[in-house]
Amino acid sequence: MIGFLLDTNVLSEFARTGEPDPNVNRWLKATADESLFATARKVTAQFLLLMTSLITAPALFAQPMPADVSIENLAIDEQERDQRENLSGIIQALQLKPGSRVADIGTGYGYFAIRFASIVGPTGHVFAEEIDKPLVDKLRRRVKTAKQTNVTVILGTPDNPKLPPNSLDAILMADVYHEIANPREMLRNLRKAFKPGGRLLIEDYLKPELKDKPRQQQAKDHNISPEFIEQDLKESGFTVIERRDPFTKGYDNIPMYLVLAQ
Ligand SMILES: C[S@@+](CC[C@H](N)C(=O)[O-])C[C@H]1O[C@@H](n2cnc3c(N)ncnc32)[C@H](O)[C@@H]1O
Repeated sequence: MIGFLLDTNVLSEFARTGEPDPNVNRWLKATADESLFATARKVTAQFLLLMTSLITAPALFAQPMPADVSIENLAIDEQERDQRENLSGIIQALQLKPGSRVADIGTGYGYFAIRFASIVGPTGHVFAEEIDKPLVDKLRRRVKTAKQTNVTVILGTPDNPKLPPNSLDAILMADVYHEIANPREMLRNLRKAFKPGGRLLIEDYLKPELKDKPRQQQAKDHNISPEFIEQDLKESGFTVIERRDPFTKGYDNIPMYLVLAQ
């Protein structure tokens, strides 16, 4: 029954017509007045559809990000994230302050980039980078509407975020490193963008059952172990300064870890 209730297609059809598939009719069969019952069924279905959208909204963001999320669902998602993300921990680890220049790689809808903008203020700058063109377009509109003049949205390529050279104090990669097909090239490009002493924070997932699995298998499940990241970082000339595991909670309360490097 639960599986059926969470099938949005079935529910949409049900809500639209009040005439679901025969299983649903069997579920709802009763001896009450037919027309009254049809209205009741339709209202019930619309309610279930609404509840299903609310329940599944956060799951829409469990990578890769769809570009067609409505403003309403985005607001629901970001309010929920505000409750569980360790934003203050990220700001502290990256040492962000007024005047800082920071990049958010694989920014998605710009959850972190938008929040960083108010920390770094008018004397600082945020580079919000993404490789998905429809997302970049949406984010550009979001930034423009919010009149956030200290945010530049960049359309990057999978290996190159096209950041300005020698100019950044901090870079965040949240829930994106596992997607990078050529991490050495990406890290090489990130290194070029840093000022001396700049900090790179990588936040990602590793389900316990994937702990000892090969990297490709972890990546297929949008996961990566912190050991692989630390190895990439060291081989790319970074120094790992901290690992915190767990660091925060991701979608569905799955723990996320942090790797901080310089
Ligand atoms: C799960 S989302 C996370 C978005 C954002 N960091 C957040 O926490 O809200 C992963 C994002 O990384 C982007 N992405 C995937 N591969 C990338 C790459 N090589 N370079 C930059 N972004 C990438 C995807 O398009 C997607 O928007």
